[in-house]
Amino acid sequence: MVAYGSPLYVYSRSDVERNWLEFDQAFGSHPHLVCYAVKANSNIAVLNTLAKIGAGFDIVSQGELERVLVAGGQGNRCVFSGVAKTAKEIKRALEVGVRCFNVESASELDRIESVAKSLNTQAPISIRVNPNVDAKTHPYISTGLKENKFGVDIDDAINLYQRAQNSEYLNIQGLDCHIGSQITEVSPFLDALDKVLELIDQLNKNGIKISQLDLGGGIGIVYDDEQTIDIQAYIDAIISKVGKIEIILEPGRSIVGNAGIFVTKVEFIKQNSEHSFAIIDGAMNDLLRPSFYNAYHQVLPVNENSNGIQASWDLVGPICETGDFLAKDRALSLSQGDYLAVMSAGAYGFTMSSNYNSRPRVAEVMVSGDQHYLVRERETIQDLFNKEHMIND
Ligand code: LLP
Repeated sequence: MVAYGSPLYVYSRSDVERNWLEFDQAFGSHPHLVCYAVKANSNIAVLNTLAKIGAGFDIVSQGELERVLVAGGQGNRCVFSGVAKTAKEIKRALEVGVRCFNVESASELDRIESVAKSLNTQAPISIRVNPNVDAKTHPYISTGLKENKFGVDIDDAINLYQRAQNSEYLNIQGLDCHIGSQITEVSPFLDALDKVLELIDQLNKNGIKISQLDLGGGIGIVYDDEQTIDIQAYIDAIISKVGKIEIILEPGRSIVGNAGIFVTKVEFIKQNSEHSFAIIDGAMNDLLRPSFYNAYHQVLPVNENSNGIQASWDLVGPICETGDFLAKDRALSLSQGDYLAVMSAGAYGFTMSSNYNSRPRVAEVMVSGDQHYLVRERETIQDLFNKEHMIND
């Protein structure tokens, strides 16, 4: 902390490796590619760690693609997801030979076809279908309804595949689905799988060959004391249903979530008759999840403080918003100057951070063995406005 300042993110390289290898090894000899979802944590040291052990990547923008390439990842191990790929992004992805575009609509299929045509090449595609897993029966899929903007209705997919089949510029690879995130029960995944397997049967009957099935990411992690999915059991269940078809997964959170913490310092202590506030130097711009999703992250003292004030603390940041908190009602013994570790912050932490309130984005550090490395410098005040211009009149 002293070396890097506060607040900051700290990642464990060995945890990132172990988490990816757990997925990879669970497949045994079944054909598969575990494509880490870059959006969860796109630091190039994280991507490089994963590239070195053979990971594939799930990307949603050219920015993510370029990060993967700079970090030593290969284009042909990237699947390109996302609802609105631009022509420029599609062109670049074709140039670097991405393994597959996960296509989310008829108009996107047209765009990919026309870019492929202009380059006189074939674009590898899967159609992302929305299997309409009933969110009501599986309340843990809290994004179930929002997910409807994603993918193609399962009933419309055959038409789209037929269009793709008839195009000389499109090359059908497989089928894709992703039903949500932080899912802690295996049943919605298996319900979705049953639905897409039915569709694959229908496609086969129509002469459309599906050689890979991408089941997305979404495997939940433990933030508090929730029970979550056993990865080996999930992958065994997939393998038992799919025959010989190659499986792609796109886990993000489950690779990096528990491999990272956010460290913040108690700046001030402020108690009134109703509340005990610990005002910390970290804020919603650094770690948005608590404010945005009311997400729970465990908070632990970096050093036990037996001489602090024992209370139930709200940990609030310096930003001028009531919603600026990282945790509420936490029993801790605290003094001004204490460091706190906000746990399970490796996924959707730094990547969702911003410069709100003109706060420079924080440093990122990676621990490897008994060494630690600065993997992203803290932004400077100058960085905040060095791309801005005044109108000189
Ligand atoms: N594949 C696709 C197409 C996705 O949209 C996502 C996540 C993933 C894979 C990776 O899902 P994961 O394994 O990480 O659950 N910001 C939110 C999470 C948003 C997830 C968006 N899509 C959060 O902080 O909880």
